[in-house]
Order: sequence, then C-alpha cells, then structure tokens
Amino acid sequence: MKVSVIGGGGLVGSMAAFALQMGKVASHISIIDANKQVAEGVALDLLQGASLIADQRIVAEDMSGVADSDVVVITAGLRRKPDESRLDLINRNVDLFLALLADAKKAGLRPDSHLVVVSNPVDVLTHLAVKRSGLDWRRVIGLGTQLDTARFCSHIARRLQVPTTQVKALLLGEHGDSMVPIWSSATVGGLSLDQWPGWNAQAAAETFEETKTAGAKMISLKGGSGFAVGVSIREVVESILLDSRKILPVSTLQQGLYDLRDVCISVPTEVGTGGARKQYELSLTSKEKIGLQNSARVLRGIIDQVEARLAKGPAAAAPAAPAPAAASSAPVAAPAPVAASMAAIGPASDAKPIGHPPVQVRTAVNRASWNRGA
Ligand SMILES: NC(=O)c1ccc[n+]([C@@H]2O[C@H](COP(=O)([O-])OP(=O)(O)OC[C@H]3O[C@@H](n4cnc5c(N)ncnc54)[C@H](O)[C@@H]3O)[C@@H](O)[C@H]2O)c1
Repeated sequence: MKVSVIGGGGLVGSMAAFALQMGKVASHISIIDANKQVAEGVALDLLQGASLIADQRIVAEDMSGVADSDVVVITAGLRRKPDESRLDLINRNVDLFLALLADAKKAGLRPDSHLVVVSNPVDVLTHLAVKRSGLDWRRVIGLGTQLDTARFCSHIARRLQVPTTQVKALLLGEHGDSMVPIWSSATVGGLSLDQWPGWNAQAAAETFEETKTAGAKMISLKGGSGFAVGVSIREVVESILLDSRKILPVSTLQQGLYDLRDVCISVPTEVGTGGARKQYELSLTSKEKIGLQNSARVLRGIIDQVEARLAKGPAAAAPAAPAPAAASSAPVAAPAPVAASMAAIGPASDAKPIGHPPVQVRTAVNRASWNRGA
C-alpha cells in the first residue's frame, strides 16, 4: 500500500514519513515537495536507515506519484508574511491548497484513494477538499484534534504521574482555540479521571490550557511540532491501510450529529478502508455539546469568508494587500521568501518548482497565530 506525502520535505511531512517508516505498514512511501532537492534528501535519508527498519520502497517523486497512492497526506503550507492578517494567511493557504488539489486531480488522484489533510487551517481545508476533490466525503479526513488528543492524554499522565498509555481522554471540535475537552469520558486505567487522587478543577483547567497552547509552545521551543504530529498522522493512515476501524477524533464532514451540519470538524469517527466509516454521537454534557456547536460556528464563519472570496473569482483569489496584523499576541514572521506570493509560486505543481526557495530555517517567530494549535 502506497502513501504519498505532499509537503514531505517539510518538518511535519518528513516526520510523518519517518513515523510511517517505523510503523512498517505502508509498503511504499513517496515524498512530494515543491522543493525537489529537499524531497530527494528526505527520501534518501529515510532510505539509508531502511536496512535497520523494514523493506519499504521510499522515493521522492513529482505530483504524478499520487496516481497510484492509496493514501495522500497533505502537509504543504505557507507561513505568515510581515504585516499580514490572519485571514490573508488563511486565504493564501487556501489558494495553495486548492492549487495542490487541482494538480493532484490532474495527476490522476484515484477515486478509491484517501486524502488525509494536515495543513492548517485543517478543518477549513478539509471542508474545501470534501467539496472540490471529487472524492467521496468519507475518503477525505482532516487530522483534526488527533494531535491535540494525543497531547491531552500525555499531559494528563505527566501531571498525575501515571503511565501515558493508560490515560484515555478526548478533545473534539476545531483544531484551534475553540477545541473542546470531553472531561465526561476521561479515564485513567479504566477509572474515571474525576475520581483520580490529586485530580481537581485547577488541574483540569491547567492541563487543558497546556494542551491548547502546546502548538505555540512547540513553535517557541523548536520551531514547530514534529514527532507528535508525525505519529498522530501515522495513527490515521495506518488505521486506513489496515482497516483497523479505530475510533479517532478526526475532522470529517458533519451531516447532523450533535446538530452540526456542513462543516468539517472532529467527532469520534471510525477510520478504516474507505476512510470515515462511521461517525458517533456520544452523550455529552450540555457544556461539552455547546462547546462543540460553538466550535462549528467558528469554523463556519471562516468557511463563509473563504467561500465568499473564492466566489468572486481569480482576481479576488490573488494575494490580498498586506493588512495590519490581527490583534494577536503571535509575533509576525520575518520576511519569508517562500511566502512571497501565490502568484510567484503559481499553481502548486511539481512542474513549477522554479524559484521555490530551499526550506527555510525555522525560527520561533515565523508561524501564524491561527497555527497555534498546530
Ligand atoms: N493539523 C495539525 O495538527 C498540524 C500540526 C502541525 C502543523 N500543521 C500544519 O502543517 C503544515 C506544514 O507545517 P511544517 O512545519 O511542516 O511547515 P514547513 O514549512 O516545514 O513545510 C512545508 C513544506 O511544504 C512545501 N510546499 C510548499 N508549497 C508547496 C507546493 N505547492 N507543493 C508541494 N510542496 C509545497 C514546502 O517546500 C515545505 O517543504 C502547516 O500548514 C502547519 O500549520 C498541522
């Protein structure tokens, strides 16, 4: 089974590829990136360790590599420009993503393939992919709160000093500030977290805050998430490849559960062959349910703004003039050549890598505020 990673030369994509290599489930891993040199470097680096791991075909390819892929993971993304507003960055990432989708379709994206969207804003891009990829909605899965949930469990375990894998706790909703902790179902070793010695309201509030700001913390410590997002992606991809039918908090099109409609957002979802096989509506507390609906409203607002711009046609889809930075505590990026403009990059095709700069050295200040949940 073949997995292609578009953006595989970047931090997230390369970590996902390594996690997939260590998982030994995918038989074929393809690294696709606008920066061909880095894609080749990542593929070669992985290949050089293969003799100690597993017999997998690992290659760097152009977009044609998606044609025979069972799973296509999209991690390609742009960074914020100086003085750029939050919405402008979203718009540029939307344009990049739509161009990538168009290229993937042109390259022969199969209707029986699966799309795993990781690039941010992940829930918005997943919604666009559902509407425009031509794939059945079940085959389009956003990473959603999968990474947030992994972090949540790990942070709870660290606080309680219990084995990490014995903590089962869930975050649903947006991969972003409005994510919702589902305290009502959290357990340690099968026992209610609520009753665990040392657990209290303050511990809960601090742990949730720690989780919500984990992306920003990773950015400030090392430039961005890598290992944890890599294994989170692997969990989703392998559940598809093995038809494991794991129940995962991934972002999929909602059609009525929890009164959510026409938005991609994370709810418990059975993931296997064919993608999202089933979505589950659990009984939540009213606070949790209201939180989930609020999260959907936040996302719907962004989707409406994005769709309104796209409906105005290509002129409106051109990069917007720099606007004052959004009222956010996030620092603004240093000038980033990769983000020069969508027009400069053109359709995100592997056939057009000319002028694409090498992968930039990450700094603690070159990520967008909406990327904090990253
Ligand atoms: N959903 C999540 O949980 C989550 C977590 C972490 C990061 N992210 C997102 O993942 C994305 C990637 O983050 P990163 O840290 O790897 O960034 P990065 O800058 O390290 O990597 C991005 C890669 O995309 C490539 N790229 C850009 N345009 C391309 C194109 N048109 N075609 C092919 N490749 C192209 C770049 O060359 C680069 O290698 C971002 O959008 C980030 O916000 C999501």
